[in-house]
Amino acid sequence: MARSRSTEEYLVSDRATHSFDNPAKAATRERNLRVVVDQAHELWDEERGVLRGRWCELMGTSGIRTLEMLERARALPHGGFVGVDFDPRIIDAAKIRYPHHHWICGDLFDVLRSAELAGVSVVNFDAYLAVASGKLAAAGRLLQDLIGRAIQSFGACVVLWNGDLDCSRRQGILPSVALREHARALAEVLQRCAGPRRLLTAELLLPEESEHQVDDGYTGEVGAFDIYKGKGGGHRMALARAVLR
Ligand SMILES: C[S@@+](CC[C@H](N)C(=O)[O-])C[C@H]1O[C@@H](n2cnc3c(N)ncnc32)[C@H](O)[C@@H]1O
Repeated sequence: MARSRSTEEYLVSDRATHSFDNPAKAATRERNLRVVVDQAHELWDEERGVLRGRWCELMGTSGIRTLEMLERARALPHGGFVGVDFDPRIIDAAKIRYPHHHWICGDLFDVLRSAELAGVSVVNFDAYLAVASGKLAAAGRLLQDLIGRAIQSFGACVVLWNGDLDCSRRQGILPSVALREHARALAEVLQRCAGPRRLLTAELLLPEESEHQVDDGYTGEVGAFDIYKGKGGGHRMALARAVLR
């Protein structure tokens, strides 16, 4: 009979097999923080070496790795992390380990106006939606208010938007074609969030013709995208990073 898992075990994810808990993903988490430190000066308190505002993360069992990384770097103010997930077991386990941070069980899109999300300055939309799936625009419309409030409060918002790149192959679409379409749709979303003060184009996220290198299994940076592969045999992800002002 299968043993039931203890609350704490809902935060345990296996590095050997887990798609979201492996060295490649760990490296992207570090690079996410670097973007905040190096490129979003409005959000980084240089003197104290901490984030201004809160870091919002979609959790799963491995989102705790992001929090561990941020805690190791001493990058968060007290209560500076908001973890969100549908699964109450994940949220309960995280809350026990880190009671001074903020935890929301539910659909992010239903709680965008909650007190916990007030003061968010980094939005890690790490939902792994397929790139160019058509769901991006709807998600973007919903997140627009959260991102807009961050820009208003802090002068900037770091948006991290992760998507599954290789699942496009299942639909018979080349990754390069899917990534170009994704960049176009994401630029539209980000443009709406930033408003008319700044022009955000697909080419700023993904320079013209640069998408072609992703068709041969490439991993590395292409424009604003970090293309990485977690566990062996798994799909590559396309993680976009943008500092909106
Ligand atoms: C890929 S995992 C997150 C990985 C994690 N950020 C990390 O660094 O390892 C995505 C998680 O977000 C949850 N999720 C996706 N969309 C969500 C939403 N709209 N509201 C709340 N949770 C969501 C999924 O159920 C899943 O557990």
